[in-house]
Amino acid sequence: MTTPFYVTTPLYYPNAQPHIGSTYTTAIADTLTRYHRAAGEEVFFVTGTDEHGEKMLEAAREAGLEPKAFVDGMAERFSSTWKQLGFEYDRFIRTTDADHVRAVQHLWQTIYDRGDVEFREYTGRYCVGCEAYLTDRELVDGQCAQHLTEPEERSESNYFFKMTSYFDDWVEHLESHPELVTPTRYRNEALALMKGGVLGDLCITRPVERLTWGIPAPWDDDYVLYVWTDALVNYVTATGYPEAGWEERWSGVHHLIGKDILKPHAVFWPTILRAAGLPLFQGLHVHGHWNVENQKISKSLGNLVDPHVMDEKYGFEGFRYYLLRDMSFGTDTGFSESGVVRRINDDLANDLGNLLNRSVSMTGRYFDGVVPEASEPGELAEVATRVAADVDRHVREFSTQRALTALWELVSAGNKYVDAQAPWKLAKEPEQRRELERVLYDVLESLRITAVLLAPFLPGTAARILGSLGDPPTAATLAEATRWGGLPAGTSTQVIPALFPRIDTD
Ligand code: MSP
Repeated sequence: MTTPFYVTTPLYYPNAQPHIGSTYTTAIADTLTRYHRAAGEEVFFVTGTDEHGEKMLEAAREAGLEPKAFVDGMAERFSSTWKQLGFEYDRFIRTTDADHVRAVQHLWQTIYDRGDVEFREYTGRYCVGCEAYLTDRELVDGQCAQHLTEPEERSESNYFFKMTSYFDDWVEHLESHPELVTPTRYRNEALALMKGGVLGDLCITRPVERLTWGIPAPWDDDYVLYVWTDALVNYVTATGYPEAGWEERWSGVHHLIGKDILKPHAVFWPTILRAAGLPLFQGLHVHGHWNVENQKISKSLGNLVDPHVMDEKYGFEGFRYYLLRDMSFGTDTGFSESGVVRRINDDLANDLGNLLNRSVSMTGRYFDGVVPEASEPGELAEVATRVAADVDRHVREFSTQRALTALWELVSAGNKYVDAQAPWKLAKEPEQRRELERVLYDVLESLRITAVLLAPFLPGTAARILGSLGDPPTAATLAEATRWGGLPAGTSTQVIPALFPRIDTD
């Protein structure tokens, strides 16, 4: 039994609509699972919504609804948006799901029974935006650096998880296992948080007199569990924890998150897992933020970038390509619609669309649309083999940007090859017939391999390319499917409407 590839997205707060940030993370997760599935691996992809806590209660109040009715409606918006955009997750988990409530209570009761939970008086400054108490050293001019609001001073008795007692162990482990948090700068950031004495123990409850919208602490009815200590547990809930057999899926787990939620994932979560006696995740992969006109996106600025609008304007796969291609994993990137249009026009319409169109048109003109006989594999076969290996490496390192950049080397090699070989000249000379067959076969076959490798990124586009190539037989694994020579001579091709019509920029 090989280790399954299990990928998670953060559970999105359903007080806002799906936007560029959540669409980006979910698109990466969808691409990775499609790739690993095509490679013949077992995959499991989980996304969902984080529905408890003060923030959600406030949003429900504003909407004039009971919290459960509010989150029901919003969770539906998320799941229907993801379905409409073609994301193929295996489970949409909600923190109000009954199995999640059971898993959370079981896990925290375990930690409580092991003696790592303590009742304490506490006075601190609470930021509702972060749903967290902030220490002095986390404030900038008395304000939360992220939400630019002054946290409220609160005094309560609460239960605390003795998180700091796990720091030495986790620091040591993380230092000797650098692959656990990527890219490196985020591992360093996590280490600095634990070494710098910035963080104290974790307050894991809220008194019901202040907040009832949460999962009850199993050992004390007067308290509900803090929203982060509830939400993080979803990653094990989805594997079936604590029922027998859950560890198998868990053994291949990779978390995808944005940089703003590094602390809960790189500090709270691993220490919670350790305290509960559960194995660590295999990888925590941290991406940067999309900024719009140099500003962080936010509901109040109204610059969220709605994926439905992008879908209507450009077709979702054009936007999806831009997201996966333009952001270097881990760094912040500026979003612009002109950037989307440029990618669609240059990469998709020009490079890829034209290559397909001219190759299949020439096959129609010179060979009645039928794929000619192959010759010995030549220069394009060499490029295709190298590119397939590069794409594989980059996908396994979570870089969709590098993977697509590598794939486009094959596309441009195809275009250069056609320009250099000039089939239209060969076609004029009957003694060059065999040469013409060789050239067109090579280009068509490189397009088939391009489509196979593109499928996890742009499934609809890849299917259209393969359709134009006469739907050649599919292979069981990616390794076989990308082997040169899979396009049978004699297959009937057909010219299809432009893959991506050029967008007028005037
Ligand atoms: N509910 C928590 C996560 C709990 S996970 C157990 C949460 N939700 S969120 O809806 O606020 O954010 C979810 C994800 O969206 C985060 O990974 C965050 O980084 C990401 N993004 C929000 N805005 C973003 C951009 N502008 N760009 C890229 N991703 C960003 O935090």
